[in-house]
Amino acid sequence: MHKSANDKSFISITVSGTIIYMKNIMKKIFMTTLILALILTGCSSTPQSTEAPAEDTTAPEVITPRPDDGRTVVGISMPDRLLERWNRDGEFLKDQFESIGCEVILEYANNLIDTQTDNLKMMIASGADLLVVTAVDGSALSTVLEDAHRNGVKIIAYDRLIMGTNAVDYYVSFDNYKVGVLQADYIIADLGLKTSKDPKNIEFVTGDPVDNNARFFYRGAMDTLKPYLDSGQLQVPSSQSGFYETSTAQWSTDIAQQRLQIILNSYYPEGTRLDAVLCANDSTAVGVTRALEADYTGRNTVVVTGQDADISNIYNILEGTQSMTVYKHLKQESVVTVTLGQDILEGNEPAEDLIDRAGWDFDCSYNVTDYNNGNKVVPSYLLRPIAISAVNIEKELFKTGYYGRNSAGLIYATK
Ligand code: GAL
Repeated sequence: MHKSANDKSFISITVSGTIIYMKNIMKKIFMTTLILALILTGCSSTPQSTEAPAEDTTAPEVITPRPDDGRTVVGISMPDRLLERWNRDGEFLKDQFESIGCEVILEYANNLIDTQTDNLKMMIASGADLLVVTAVDGSALSTVLEDAHRNGVKIIAYDRLIMGTNAVDYYVSFDNYKVGVLQADYIIADLGLKTSKDPKNIEFVTGDPVDNNARFFYRGAMDTLKPYLDSGQLQVPSSQSGFYETSTAQWSTDIAQQRLQIILNSYYPEGTRLDAVLCANDSTAVGVTRALEADYTGRNTVVVTGQDADISNIYNILEGTQSMTVYKHLKQESVVTVTLGQDILEGNEPAEDLIDRAGWDFDCSYNVTDYNNGNKVVPSYLLRPIAISAVNIEKELFKTGYYGRNSAGLIYATK
């Protein structure tokens, strides 16, 4: 294929330093394949179904009551230590269950489905009465949990919904749809989309497709940005705005960085301005910040969102390389879970009444409509997420004692 110097139908892209000349249409095919390759590494889950749960023709679950061995054993299965927050969730849950006299088995699964399944099998064999589970892959735990449930083990899905099974009693999380709304609201305000009609460019870096939360974050954000995307006031130069094509397997910082670098090198030649990147959480936001530092040629500060208020991202917000994050008070999430756990271990079937009886000094709502796992609508306790930027960071994170600073000014997570 011969390319003459000023032939506009040819374009050049740089992949790992090699300049490749190719026709525009070829580029679209090539780019989609490349990014699809990045994405397909993590796509295996069954999305949250919107239809009514399928007629469950299987025989009703026979629950064998647990022999009372005088011990109350709680198994806590966390997905991964590399994503900052789960370390804190695990510690908070362990401390609080131990404080009410439970024996706790806490395990981390390195983001591996088989490891999590083995962790759960070990907890069940160790006599667990209650399992508190944050799934690596929401659809991969049915078998191991159905065995446990048949043997009277109670199961709470912690933060991420467990999909495609009846073997889950309750769900505790934040209002995940609201998380996406807060991220989009921040972008709308910061870009002045309500006041000026100037078109702006945005890109999307969404979450792990096997994590049911990622869809709620995505829907909250896209529903909020829809009027601006429909009117063309918000443009997506890469034209990638679908859930799967913008998703990030394992919430990986590296995958987010690689994908945005490819987008910058392909759709943002010199002078093309990028105004915002909607990142679903802080680990992907770190990847995006690095990609912007490495490959963005514009002079403007790109709006970058996040979630979790991870310490490394708090520094980035204070430095101005990240614009906001969504703060989720993890200790409160564990307080709700332990109170709920204690109540069901005592043989109760709490509903709204748990919130009244607990009298927490924070918001928590009882929801029996929104979290359908494909088999049933799981009764859920949802906490309120809070948008954090440089404006309210001191008040919400430091004055409240969620984070502290040591004598050298370094931020640390309080107990
Ligand atoms: C989600 C969780 C977020 C974020 C993300 C990556 O399930 O709700 O807070 O931590 O996983 O770990």
